[in-house]
Amino acid sequence: MTSFEDLIRAVPDFPKPGIVFRDITPLLADGAAFARCIDAMAEPWLQSNVQAVCGVESRGFIFAAALAQKLKAGFIPLRKPGKLPPPVMHADYKLEYGTDRLEAREGTIRKGERILLVDDVLATGGTLGAARNLLEQLGADLVGASVVIELLALQGRALWPERVPLRTVLHY
Ligand code: PRP
Ligand code: ADE
Repeated sequence: MTSFEDLIRAVPDFPKPGIVFRDITPLLADGAAFARCIDAMAEPWLQSNVQAVCGVESRGFIFAAALAQKLKAGFIPLRKPGKLPPPVMHADYKLEYGTDRLEAREGTIRKGERILLVDDVLATGGTLGAARNLLEQLGADLVGASVVIELLALQGRALWPERVPLRTVLHY
């Protein structure tokens, strides 16, 4: 059984000098490891009555759709600007290597709907924080968040409220 660590490639100076990019594509290509990763991301929420899983474009979609199937829940995309038809709501955020915006379609989330938020990497925490703001603006009951990789040095968890459970599977 190959360890998760052996299936995450560290790529120095990508996409900008000074960034060590954690490449998840070898893990995705290994069917058994991908399944174990989804099991680990889902485990805290198996009894949480999650109604929909929200994934962050684009790498977050891969894990969120698989988790939605595992939890027998719906899937709701949080997309980069200009991809969803109106009406949309948005939240802006800073990245480790730039700035961006997330959009969600108004009306996709019912008030009080039990939502699990999913992404692949927690770095500075800007993306996950913007996603949380957006979901809360839309009236979601945020059950928690599941993320594959937490980059501890960037302290993204410090921006995340303690009241909302956050599961991360791998730590660098
Ligand atoms: C990456 C990653 C997370 C985000 C984490 O997204 O997929 O969403 O950065 O960084 P943060 O914690 O500093 O906000 P990116 O915008 O590179 O998009 P991609 O999934 O389309 O590659
Ligand atoms: N998203 C933000 N920072 C990242 C990193 N260092 N590796 C992969 N994805 C990222």
